[in-house]
Amino acid sequence: MHPCKYIIVSEEEEGYPLDAFCIPSHYEAYLERVLVPCGLIMDRIERLSRDIAQDYVNQPFTALCVLKGGYKFCADLLDKIKQNVRNSENPTGVISVDFIRLKSYVNEESTGKLKVMGIDNLSTLAGRNLLIVEDIIDTGFTMSNLLVLLKEFKPKSVRVVSLFVKRSPNSNGYKPDYIGFEVPNKFIVGYALDYNEYFRDLNHVCIINEKGKVKYGKK
Ligand code: IMP
Repeated sequence: MHPCKYIIVSEEEEGYPLDAFCIPSHYEAYLERVLVPCGLIMDRIERLSRDIAQDYVNQPFTALCVLKGGYKFCADLLDKIKQNVRNSENPTGVISVDFIRLKSYVNEESTGKLKVMGIDNLSTLAGRNLLIVEDIIDTGFTMSNLLVLLKEFKPKSVRVVSLFVKRSPNSNGYKPDYIGFEVPNKFIVGYALDYNEYFRDLNHVCIINEKGKVKYGKK
Protein backbone atom coordinates (compact mmCIF):
# COMPACT_ATOMS: atom_id res chain seq x y z
CA MET A 1 0.00 0.00 0.00
CA HIS A 2 1.08 3.57 -0.61
CA PRO A 3 2.74 5.24 2.38
CA CYS A 4 0.46 7.91 3.74
CA LYS A 5 1.54 11.15 2.06
CA TYR A 6 -0.64 14.20 2.39
CA ILE A 7 -0.62 17.98 2.26
CA ILE A 8 -0.14 19.72 5.58
CA VAL A 9 -1.94 23.04 5.92
CA SER A 10 0.10 24.64 8.70
CA GLU A 11 -1.17 26.49 11.77
CA GLU A 12 0.28 29.72 10.34
CA GLU A 13 -1.48 29.27 6.99
CA GLU A 14 -3.80 32.24 6.62
CA GLY A 15 -5.49 30.98 3.48
CA TYR A 16 -6.77 33.44 0.90
CA PRO A 17 -9.02 36.51 1.01
CA LEU A 18 -12.63 35.84 0.01
CA ASP A 19 -12.54 38.45 -2.75
CA ALA A 20 -9.76 36.57 -4.54
CA PHE A 21 -12.34 33.88 -5.39
CA CYS A 22 -16.00 33.60 -6.40
CA ILE A 23 -18.03 33.09 -3.23
CA PRO A 24 -21.86 32.90 -3.24
CA SER A 25 -23.01 36.34 -2.07
CA HIS A 26 -25.34 34.79 0.54
CA TYR A 27 -22.30 33.47 2.42
CA GLU A 28 -19.76 36.30 2.05
CA ALA A 29 -20.51 37.93 5.41
CA TYR A 30 -20.26 34.64 7.29
CA LEU A 31 -16.83 33.42 6.22
CA GLU A 32 -13.35 34.43 7.35
CA ARG A 33 -11.00 33.17 4.63
CA VAL A 34 -10.68 30.56 1.90
CA LEU A 35 -8.48 27.82 3.38
CA VAL A 36 -8.32 25.28 0.53
CA PRO A 37 -9.51 26.37 -2.93
CA CYS A 38 -11.59 23.86 -4.90
CA GLY A 39 -8.96 23.62 -7.65
CA LEU A 40 -6.33 22.41 -5.16
CA ILE A 41 -8.79 19.85 -3.80
CA MET A 42 -9.32 18.51 -7.32
CA ASP A 43 -5.57 18.29 -7.94
CA ARG A 44 -5.07 16.40 -4.70
CA ILE A 45 -7.95 14.03 -5.55
CA GLU A 46 -6.26 13.25 -8.86
CA ARG A 47 -3.22 11.92 -7.01
CA LEU A 48 -5.23 10.13 -4.30
CA SER A 49 -7.16 8.33 -7.03
CA ARG A 50 -3.97 7.17 -8.69
CA ASP A 51 -2.60 5.81 -5.40
CA ILE A 52 -5.89 4.03 -4.65
CA ALA A 53 -6.23 2.52 -8.15
CA GLN A 54 -2.68 1.17 -7.87
CA ASP A 55 -3.37 -0.35 -4.44
CA TYR A 56 -6.52 -2.13 -5.65
CA VAL A 57 -5.12 -3.83 -8.76
CA ASN A 58 -7.23 -6.98 -9.40
CA GLN A 59 -9.25 -6.21 -6.27
CA PRO A 60 -12.85 -5.24 -6.98
CA PHE A 61 -14.06 -2.92 -4.23
CA THR A 62 -17.06 -1.06 -2.86
CA ALA A 63 -16.75 2.62 -2.15
CA LEU A 64 -18.83 3.31 0.95
CA CYS A 65 -19.69 6.99 0.85
CA VAL A 66 -20.38 8.61 4.22
CA LEU A 67 -23.23 11.04 3.63
CA LYS A 68 -23.84 13.86 3.50
CA GLY A 69 -20.44 15.55 3.77
CA GLY A 70 -18.63 12.91 1.71
CA TYR A 71 -20.90 12.98 -1.35
CA LYS A 72 -18.88 15.44 -3.40
CA PHE A 73 -15.51 14.00 -2.49
CA CYS A 74 -16.81 10.49 -3.23
CA ALA A 75 -18.22 11.49 -6.63
CA ASP A 76 -15.08 13.37 -7.68
CA LEU A 77 -12.74 10.67 -6.33
CA LEU A 78 -14.62 7.85 -8.08
CA ASP A 79 -14.66 9.74 -11.37
CA LYS A 80 -10.88 10.01 -11.20
CA ILE A 81 -10.37 6.40 -10.01
CA LYS A 82 -12.51 5.17 -12.94
CA GLN A 83 -10.41 7.29 -15.30
CA ASN A 84 -7.27 5.62 -13.91
CA VAL A 85 -8.83 2.17 -14.24
CA ARG A 86 -9.92 2.82 -17.87
CA ASN A 87 -6.40 3.78 -18.80
CA SER A 88 -4.58 1.09 -16.86
CA GLU A 89 -3.29 -2.26 -18.02
CA ASN A 90 -3.69 -3.46 -14.42
CA PRO A 91 -7.26 -2.48 -13.53
CA THR A 92 -8.99 -3.02 -10.20
CA GLY A 93 -12.05 -4.95 -11.35
CA VAL A 94 -15.63 -3.89 -10.67
CA ILE A 95 -16.11 -0.82 -8.47
CA SER A 96 -19.49 -0.52 -6.76
CA VAL A 97 -20.86 2.27 -4.58
CA ASP A 98 -22.94 2.24 -1.42
CA PHE A 99 -24.04 4.93 1.01
CA ILE A 100 -24.28 5.31 4.75
CA ARG A 101 -25.41 8.27 6.81
CA LEU A 102 -24.00 9.13 10.22
CA LYS A 103 -24.62 12.00 12.57
CA SER A 104 -22.69 13.00 15.66
CA TYR A 105 -22.49 16.80 15.52
CA VAL A 106 -24.64 19.73 16.63
CA ASN A 107 -23.10 23.13 15.84
CA GLU A 108 -19.33 22.65 16.21
CA GLU A 109 -19.52 20.03 18.91
CA SER A 110 -19.53 16.28 18.73
CA THR A 111 -22.50 15.01 20.73
CA GLY A 112 -20.51 11.91 21.64
CA LYS A 113 -23.22 9.70 20.18
CA LEU A 114 -23.05 8.17 16.70
CA LYS A 115 -26.36 7.91 14.92
CA VAL A 116 -26.17 5.43 12.04
CA MET A 117 -28.74 5.40 9.27
CA GLY A 118 -29.09 2.87 6.44
CA ILE A 119 -27.69 0.14 8.69
CA ASP A 120 -30.11 -2.50 7.32
CA ASN A 121 -28.24 -2.62 4.04
CA LEU A 122 -24.84 -3.24 5.60
CA SER A 123 -25.17 -7.04 5.49
CA THR A 124 -24.68 -6.79 1.72
CA LEU A 125 -21.10 -5.66 2.45
CA ALA A 126 -20.00 -9.11 3.67
CA GLY A 127 -16.96 -10.47 1.81
CA ARG A 128 -16.29 -7.19 0.01
CA ASN A 129 -13.25 -4.94 -0.07
CA LEU A 130 -14.56 -1.69 1.40
CA LEU A 131 -13.16 1.75 0.79
CA ILE A 132 -14.88 4.14 3.20
CA VAL A 133 -15.00 7.66 1.76
CA GLU A 134 -15.26 10.34 4.46
CA ASP A 135 -15.06 14.14 4.36
CA ILE A 136 -13.19 14.91 7.58
CA ILE A 137 -11.77 13.20 10.67
CA ASP A 138 -11.82 15.42 13.76
CA THR A 139 -11.67 13.50 17.06
CA GLY A 140 -11.70 10.17 15.20
CA PHE A 141 -14.74 9.08 17.21
CA THR A 142 -17.05 8.67 14.20
CA MET A 143 -14.63 6.58 12.12
CA SER A 144 -13.36 4.42 15.01
CA ASN A 145 -16.95 3.53 15.89
CA LEU A 146 -17.96 2.95 12.29
CA LEU A 147 -15.02 0.57 11.81
CA VAL A 148 -16.01 -1.49 14.87
CA LEU A 149 -19.58 -1.64 13.60
CA LEU A 150 -18.62 -2.61 10.05
CA LYS A 151 -16.45 -5.50 11.20
CA GLU A 152 -19.60 -7.21 12.47
CA PHE A 153 -20.72 -7.50 8.86
CA LYS A 154 -17.53 -9.39 7.90
CA PRO A 155 -16.14 -7.43 4.97
CA LYS A 156 -13.03 -8.90 3.28
CA SER A 157 -11.01 -5.73 3.88
CA VAL A 158 -11.63 -2.16 5.00
CA ARG A 159 -9.65 0.96 4.16
CA VAL A 160 -10.55 4.59 4.75
CA VAL A 161 -9.91 7.66 2.65
CA SER A 162 -10.62 11.05 4.22
CA LEU A 163 -10.24 14.32 2.37
CA PHE A 164 -9.35 16.18 5.57
CA VAL A 165 -7.88 15.27 8.94
CA LYS A 166 -7.99 17.94 11.64
CA ARG A 167 -5.11 18.50 14.07
CA SER A 168 -7.50 18.14 16.95
CA PRO A 169 -6.27 18.19 20.57
CA ASN A 170 -9.15 15.78 21.23
CA SER A 171 -8.00 13.26 18.64
CA ASN A 172 -8.21 9.61 19.69
CA GLY A 173 -5.17 8.93 17.50
CA TYR A 174 -7.10 7.39 14.60
CA LYS A 175 -5.49 8.01 11.16
CA PRO A 176 -7.12 6.96 7.87
CA ASP A 177 -5.25 4.96 5.19
CA TYR A 178 -5.42 7.81 2.67
CA ILE A 179 -5.54 11.51 3.56
CA GLY A 180 -6.00 14.54 1.33
CA PHE A 181 -5.04 17.38 3.67
CA GLU A 182 -4.18 17.80 7.34
CA VAL A 183 -5.80 21.03 8.51
CA PRO A 184 -5.67 23.28 11.62
CA ASN A 185 -8.17 22.79 14.42
CA LYS A 186 -10.79 25.17 13.01
CA PHE A 187 -14.31 24.51 11.80
CA ILE A 188 -14.26 24.41 8.01
CA VAL A 189 -17.14 24.45 5.54
CA GLY A 190 -17.62 24.08 1.78
CA TYR A 191 -17.07 21.34 -0.80
CA ALA A 192 -20.08 19.58 0.84
CA LEU A 193 -18.82 20.09 4.42
CA ASP A 194 -21.61 21.80 6.34
CA TYR A 195 -22.40 23.79 9.43
CA ASN A 196 -25.89 22.62 10.46
CA GLU A 197 -26.67 21.87 6.78
CA TYR A 198 -25.49 25.27 5.51
CA PHE A 199 -22.45 25.92 3.25
CA ARG A 200 -22.65 22.64 1.32
CA ASP A 201 -23.31 24.82 -1.75
CA LEU A 202 -19.90 26.52 -1.43
CA ASN A 203 -17.18 24.97 -3.58
CA HIS A 204 -14.05 26.26 -1.80
CA VAL A 205 -13.22 25.05 1.70
CA CYS A 206 -13.46 28.11 3.99
CA ILE A 207 -13.24 29.00 7.65
CA ILE A 208 -16.59 30.08 9.07
CA ASN A 209 -16.54 33.36 11.11
CA GLU A 210 -18.23 34.13 14.43
CA LYS A 211 -21.11 35.87 12.69
CA GLY A 212 -21.68 32.73 10.61
CA LYS A 213 -21.71 30.51 13.70
CA VAL A 214 -24.38 32.75 15.26
CA LYS A 215 -26.44 33.08 12.07
CA TYR A 216 -26.48 29.36 11.24
CA GLY A 217 -26.05 27.88 14.73
CA LYS A 218 -28.73 25.73 16.28
CA LYS A 219 -30.41 27.69 19.07
P1 IMP B 1 -15.16 13.08 14.57
O1 IMP B 1 -16.07 11.99 15.02
O2 IMP B 1 -14.88 14.06 15.68
O3 IMP B 1 -13.91 12.58 13.92
O4 IMP B 1 -15.97 13.92 13.50
C1 IMP B 1 -16.19 13.51 12.19
C2 IMP B 1 -17.43 14.13 11.60
O5 IMP B 1 -17.70 15.40 12.18
C3 IMP B 1 -17.26 14.39 10.12
O6 IMP B 1 -17.77 13.34 9.36
C4 IMP B 1 -18.05 15.68 9.90
O7 IMP B 1 -19.38 15.36 9.59
C5 IMP B 1 -18.03 16.38 11.23
N1 IMP B 1 -17.00 17.47 11.29
C6 IMP B 1 -15.93 17.52 12.10
N2 IMP B 1 -15.23 18.65 11.91
C7 IMP B 1 -15.87 19.31 10.94
C8 IMP B 1 -15.60 20.57 10.28
O8 IMP B 1 -14.63 21.30 10.53
N3 IMP B 1 -16.51 20.92 9.32
C9 IMP B 1 -17.59 20.17 8.98
N4 IMP B 1 -17.87 19.00 9.57
C10 IMP B 1 -17.01 18.57 10.55
